[in-house]
Amino acid sequence: MDIIPFGSESVLVVLCFMITVTASSDMLFPGESLSGDQTLTSPGGTFELGFFTPPGGNSQNYYIGIWYANVTDHTVVWVANRNQPVSDPVSSQFRFLQNGNLTLFDQSQSAIWSTHSLSLVSNSTRAKLLDNGNFVIEYAFGSSGVIWQSFDHPTDTWLPGGARLGYNKLTNQKLTLTPWKTPQNPAPGIFSLEIEPNGTSFLLLYNGSKQYWTSGSWNGKTFAQVPEIELNYHIKNITYVSNDKGSYVSYDATDPNTFIRYMIDTSGQFKAFKWRKDFHQWNSFWLRPTQFCEVYAFCGASSICNQQDQSLCVCMEGFEPRSPADWQLGDRSDGCVRKAPLQCSTGGDDNFVLVPDVRLPETPETLEVDDIHQCRLACLRNCSCIAFAYDNGCFFWVGDLFNVKQFTPDEKEGKDLYLKIPASKIMEGKKTLWIVIGLLGGLFIVITIVVVLFVKHRCFGGRFETVDGSLVMFRYRVLRNATNNFSEKLGEGGFGSVFKGTLQGSTAIAVKRLNCPKQVDKQFLTEVRTIGKIQHINLVRLCGFCAEASKRFLVYEYMPNGSLESILFKNSSDVLDWKARYHIAIGTARGLAYLHEECRECIIHCDIKPENILLDAEYVPKIADFGLAKLIRRDISRIITTMKGTRGYIAPEWISGEAITAKVDVFSYGMLLFEVISGRRNRDLLDEGLENYFPTRVANVLNKGEDVDALLDYRLEGNADKEQLSRACKVACWCIQDDEKDRPSMGQVVQLLEGVIDAGIPPMPKFLDRFSRSLVESINYRYIGSSTSDSRHEYSISISQA
Ligand SMILES: *[C@@H]1O[C@H](CO)[C@@H](O)[C@H](O)[C@H]1NC(C)=O
Ligand SMILES: *[C@@H]1O[C@H](CO)[C@@H](O)[C@H](O)[C@H]1NC(C)=O
Ligand SMILES: *[C@@H]1O[C@H](CO)[C@@H](O)[C@H](O)[C@H]1NC(C)=O
Ligand SMILES: *[C@@H]1O[C@H](CO)[C@@H](O)[C@H](O)[C@H]1NC(C)=O
Ligand SMILES: *[C@@H]1O[C@H](CO)[C@@H](O)[C@H](O)[C@H]1NC(C)=O
Ligand SMILES: *[C@@H]1O[C@H](CO)[C@@H](O)[C@H](O)[C@H]1NC(C)=O
Ligand SMILES: *[C@@H]1O[C@H](CO)[C@@H](O)[C@H](O)[C@H]1NC(C)=O
Repeated sequence: MDIIPFGSESVLVVLCFMITVTASSDMLFPGESLSGDQTLTSPGGTFELGFFTPPGGNSQNYYIGIWYANVTDHTVVWVANRNQPVSDPVSSQFRFLQNGNLTLFDQSQSAIWSTHSLSLVSNSTRAKLLDNGNFVIEYAFGSSGVIWQSFDHPTDTWLPGGARLGYNKLTNQKLTLTPWKTPQNPAPGIFSLEIEPNGTSFLLLYNGSKQYWTSGSWNGKTFAQVPEIELNYHIKNITYVSNDKGSYVSYDATDPNTFIRYMIDTSGQFKAFKWRKDFHQWNSFWLRPTQFCEVYAFCGASSICNQQDQSLCVCMEGFEPRSPADWQLGDRSDGCVRKAPLQCSTGGDDNFVLVPDVRLPETPETLEVDDIHQCRLACLRNCSCIAFAYDNGCFFWVGDLFNVKQFTPDEKEGKDLYLKIPASKIMEGKKTLWIVIGLLGGLFIVITIVVVLFVKHRCFGGRFETVDGSLVMFRYRVLRNATNNFSEKLGEGGFGSVFKGTLQGSTAIAVKRLNCPKQVDKQFLTEVRTIGKIQHINLVRLCGFCAEASKRFLVYEYMPNGSLESILFKNSSDVLDWKARYHIAIGTARGLAYLHEECRECIIHCDIKPENILLDAEYVPKIADFGLAKLIRRDISRIITTMKGTRGYIAPEWISGEAITAKVDVFSYGMLLFEVISGRRNRDLLDEGLENYFPTRVANVLNKGEDVDALLDYRLEGNADKEQLSRACKVACWCIQDDEKDRPSMGQVVQLLEGVIDAGIPPMPKFLDRFSRSLVESINYRYIGSSTSDSRHEYSISISQA
C-alpha cells in the first residue's frame, strides 16, 4: 500500500471518494476509506474488519465490525455503530479523515459514528487491524503512540492479549461489556459487566444498577468467588493493575492454536468460549451465573423464571407477554401484562391466587399486622397492592413484580406468593381445572386398566402387580418385610441408602431408599419408567419401585459380589487377577457405551467410580445408579447444577462450569481405569508426592517410552498380559485429556481395549500440571461445593453459588 500524502482538505474531499483499499490490506491511511465488501485483514489473517449484517436479522442493517476471519460462523467481536446501522454499505464509507478522525458516513453522507481522535496527522499516521483483534490509530514511526484503539471501546467481547476491562480514574470512563440486545441486533442490551470503580470485583448489572453476580475481590492471583479461573488451562497471566490512573484486568490465551473469548451474552450471562482450529466450532468452557434464573429480571416483569421448564419463562396467572413476537424469539425483557384489569379501582371484586414455592419479588413494602388474614385484607383494600406474602411478617408489592423464580417443593427455599387477580378470573380458572381433573382422572383409570391387562413380567416371574411391562410396583409393607425392616445395609450412595432384601424366601434384591421425600409423583414415575427400559448385561437391572405417601424406593437385582471398590482396594490375600480386571474394564466400558450411544435418549451417568461398578456372581461388572442424574435434555447447562460427581473422578470442564457432555463419564472412566491398573485409589498415591500421582506417572512412562510393567499393581507380581496392560494405560490417559474432544467415545474405548483399533501415545494432560501446582499452593476444592454426604469426599456440585 502506497502512502498518499494530501495537500489540502479540499483535495481530500474529491479524492476520498475514489481511494479505497485493496482487499488484503491491514491498514488505512489518512484519506482512505472502506466501502461495500472491502475489508481489512490483520497481518496473520486472524481478524477482519468491514461492513457486516447480522445473520437472521434485518438484512438492510449494516454495521462496521471486527470478526474472526477464519471462523465459519461469523463471530463478531466488536461493533462500531451499534445503535445506528447503515442501509447501504456500497454508498456508505468508513473513512480515515485527514485530521485523524475515523468516521462512518452513511448512504446520505452524514456522519453517524466517529472515533473523535484528532491528531497531528503526518504521513506516518495509520489505522491498523492487529492480530489480537485490536483496531488502532497510531503513529507508525518515530514518536510512537496509540491515538485511539477499539480495545478502549469494548462492546460485548473481551479478547485475550491486551484487551482491558476496568475503569479510567482520570476520565471516569468505564471499560465495560454490554451484550447485544438480541442475536440479530448489536445495540446495547440492558445488562452489563463492569469492574467495581473503587473495588476489585467484576459485577454483572441489570440496567446499570442492580447487581446480580460478582466475581469476588482480586486476591493477587484470581477472583475470590471464581478461583477456578486461575486453574483454567485455556487462559494464563490474568493481570490486575490498579494505580492513580485506573484499574484494569487483562488476560492471555495459553495456546496459540485456540481462540479464546469472554463475552456477555444476550441472556445476561458472562461466558467464555474456545475455538480449536481443527475442530471448527466454538465451545463454551465457563459461564456465570450458570442458571438463567439467577440473571436479574431474566423473564421481565410479572413472569416466573422456571429453570426446570423447557420454555424457562412463564407469565403469571392472568398475564400474557407484552410483546408476543419478541417473547417467542426468546427476548423476554418486555415481560408480561394483565389480560384483564383489576376491579379494585372500579369498585369490583378482586381475589388472590396462590403462586407456591417461589423466590419472592424484589423490593417489597412491609406492614405491621398480626397474621396472614390481616395482611391479605390490607392488600385487598389498597388498590395499588398487586401481591402479598406472609413470611414472619407481612410483605406486599406495588408496581411490577420482578425476579420471581420457581423452586421445586423439594428445594424448600420457595415461599408462597399471593397474586391479586380479578375475581371473575378465578371462577373461570376453577371451572377449567375441574374439567381437566375429570378428564385426566378418566384417562388414568383407562391407562391403568390397559397396563394391568397387558403387562409382561420379567424380574420375578409375575408374582407381583406390575406396570409398564417389567417394573414391579411394590407395597411399602412388602419391602419392609423383605428387608427385615431395613436392617442389612449394603451401602450409602449419593442418592440414598441401599438395603439387602429377600422376596418370598428366595429371590435376593437390593432396595434403594431415595433421599427425596417430597418428589413429585409424575416426575418420579416418568424417570423410573425410563430407567426401567434400559437393559444391558453391564447395567444393573431395575426390577421395581415403591411410591407410597412420601416413601420412594427402587428395587434392583442383587449383586452377590458387591462393588468393585470393595474388591479392588481391599487388603486381603485373594487379589483380583489381571484377567478379571480387564474383563471388568471392558464390561464397564460396554455398559457406558450403551448408555451414551445406544439408548433412545443418551444418558450421562455423572458419577462413575468403583463404588458404582457392581459385580454379579460371575464377576460380570454392572453399572449402578445410572439415570438418577437427569436425562440429557436440549440444554445441558441448565441442569448441570443438579448433578453430582465425586472428587477425583470429575472432569475439569465440569469443575469450571462448562456445559457437560457424555465425555465427563469418559474422564471418570479413565480415572477408574488407572485404579484398576494400580489397585489403589489415585488420590491415595497423591499423598506420596505430586510426581507419584498415578495418572501423572502413567503419562510420563508412556511419553518416555519406559516399561509399563512398573505401573502394575505390585500385588499381581507382574502377572498381566503386557499388551493389555499397555493398552489400558494408553486408554486411561486418552480418557483424561483436557479437551473433551481429544477423549475417545466410550464406543471407541471398547474397541481400543479389545485391540480392534489402536491409539497413539497420549499427550500429558495439562490439567495434571495445573492440578499439582494448585495442590502445592493448597487451593482446595472449596469452590466445587460444600456439602459432603460422607467423609469419603463426596461432593455435590453447586456451581451457581458464585
Ligand atoms: C485462514 O484460512 C485460509 C484458507 O482456508 C488459510 O490459508 C489461512 O492460513 C487461514 N488463516 C489462519 C490465520 O488460520
Ligand atoms: C470527527 O468527525 C465527526 C464527523 O465529521 C464529527 O462529528 C466529530 O465532531 C469529529 N470529532 C472531532 C473531535 O473533531
Ligand atoms: C513524511 O513526512 C516527513 C516530514 O513531515 C518527510 O520528511 C518524509 O519524507 C515523509 N515521508 C513520506 C514517505 O512521504
Ligand atoms: C501479562 O499481561 C500483562 C498485561 O497485559 C503484560 O504487560 C505482560 O507482558 C504479560 N506477561 C506475560 C509473561 O506475558
Ligand atoms: C471512589 O474513590 C474516590 C476517591 O478515592 C471517591 O472520590 C469516589 O467517590 C469513590 N467512588 C465510589 C463509587 O465509591
Ligand atoms: C433503567 O434505569 C433508568 C434510570 O436509571 C430508568 O429510567 C429506566 O426506567 C430503567 N429501565 C428499566 C427497564 O428498568
Ligand atoms: C397503598 O400502599 C402504598 C404503598 O405503601 C401507599 O403509598 C398508599 O398510600 C396506599 N394506599 C392506600 C389507599 O392506603
